[in-house]
Amino acid sequence: MNVAIILAGGKGERFGGEVPKQFVVLHGRRVMDYAIKAFEQHPDIEKIILVVPANWQAEILHEYPEHTIVLGGQTRRESSYNGLLACPPGTEKVLFHDAARPFLDYDTIQRTLVALDTADAVDTAIPATDTIIEVKDGIITDMPVRDNLFQGQTPQGFRYDIILKAHETVFIDTTDDIRLVREMGIPCKSVAGSHFNFKITSSNDLYMAERVTQVSAKKVARPLDMEGKRVLIFGGTGGIGSALTKRLQAGDALVTSLGSEIDLAQNTLPDSLIKDWDIIIHSAGVFIKEPFSELSVEAWDEVMNVNLRSAFLVAQLALKTMKNGGWLTFVGSSSSHRGRTSQSVYAASKAALNNLTQSLAEEFLDYGICVNCINPPRTDTPMRHRAFPGENRELLADPNQVAEDILRYCSGPETGHIVNLKYESQFRVKR
Ligand code: CTP
Ligand code: MG
Repeated sequence: MNVAIILAGGKGERFGGEVPKQFVVLHGRRVMDYAIKAFEQHPDIEKIILVVPANWQAEILHEYPEHTIVLGGQTRRESSYNGLLACPPGTEKVLFHDAARPFLDYDTIQRTLVALDTADAVDTAIPATDTIIEVKDGIITDMPVRDNLFQGQTPQGFRYDIILKAHETVFIDTTDDIRLVREMGIPCKSVAGSHFNFKITSSNDLYMAERVTQVSAKKVARPLDMEGKRVLIFGGTGGIGSALTKRLQAGDALVTSLGSEIDLAQNTLPDSLIKDWDIIIHSAGVFIKEPFSELSVEAWDEVMNVNLRSAFLVAQLALKTMKNGGWLTFVGSSSSHRGRTSQSVYAASKAALNNLTQSLAEEFLDYGICVNCINPPRTDTPMRHRAFPGENRELLADPNQVAEDILRYCSGPETGHIVNLKYESQFRVKR
């Protein structure tokens, strides 16, 4: 059996504040909830043990009755040991994870588990990118060669009998379980961690974490299966909309793709759209590139109506028609997180779409409707060419690639995600 032990027994003294950092709210959920979810979603993790301070025990137990809750100790080492003692008979692999690392991904768990097939102890680590210096009393005493230096993270994985023995026979002061096993002279393996899997240590790290929850850099790696899905697309004749339509039709979905025949500034949508939909995609948008001083009230209204107000109508349609759940996906813009010159109203409408997504995702949970917003980068579309004639098209994203990535969020359990798509080919040098 494979067990995950999530260490949440610390006080978070460097972070400060009343509430230990692992219980602080990050984008609507506790910091520790993220790691719990990551382990819950991994099919090879069969049991989860949560190590928490005494005054949090009742609340966490109430929320996670399916997991084992044990009390933390005075030190991290004691907390780890308490977790080990709660492992059921037959535990083979055990993974310790800091509750203060919310962005643990599936692949990192997988790498750790697989490495334990051939090792007794496995650390996850990333290459040190800064030069590491050793300093005593303000004087540099050593500068190890960076090539061999890594930063250790968690999870740290062990064969159960080995780590239990290490805890019971090695008595050095350590905040790290790997060190105990190394002390026994047992070789410890290192596998790749992830830059996103950083630990929230000081309050600055929470700001970083808030940004990461917005960016959600990880794309969902899942084969697209759209066969027989009933899909409604608004804005289906635009660059991204038509790429979506094409891709869905190639995957044998039943697509209804609407363009200018629907006036999205109305107060209702036609009754003919009240049908059972599995997926509704809102990809309609107008882009007006003008200085704010030159925009008319009519222009404000047009942008807000098509880009934002229509999203309310479409959300209402989803509620009415997705009786057995479904996916409501908005296509936003990179301008939603960065307003730019001559894009004021457009950027404001797209930013609002992100918040609308987050609110709806929470409210629609009970209806089984997943709501996500995908913000594509500058994309090679007719709308883009009209607004930026003469732009180097090599720096624009391929609408087919963008469509593929949008569709990944039209199946599966993700909801409330704001995904800012980025493609390496678009990184450019500012001249
Ligand atoms: N931890 C634990 N029990 C302890 C101490 C730490 O379970 N007695 C956990 C923390 O909750 C955290 C992880 O170990 O998830 C990593 O430790 P660290 O970042 O040092 O957290 P704290 O010890 O809480 O913070 P600080 O050192 O700033 O007080
Ligand atoms: Mg600590």
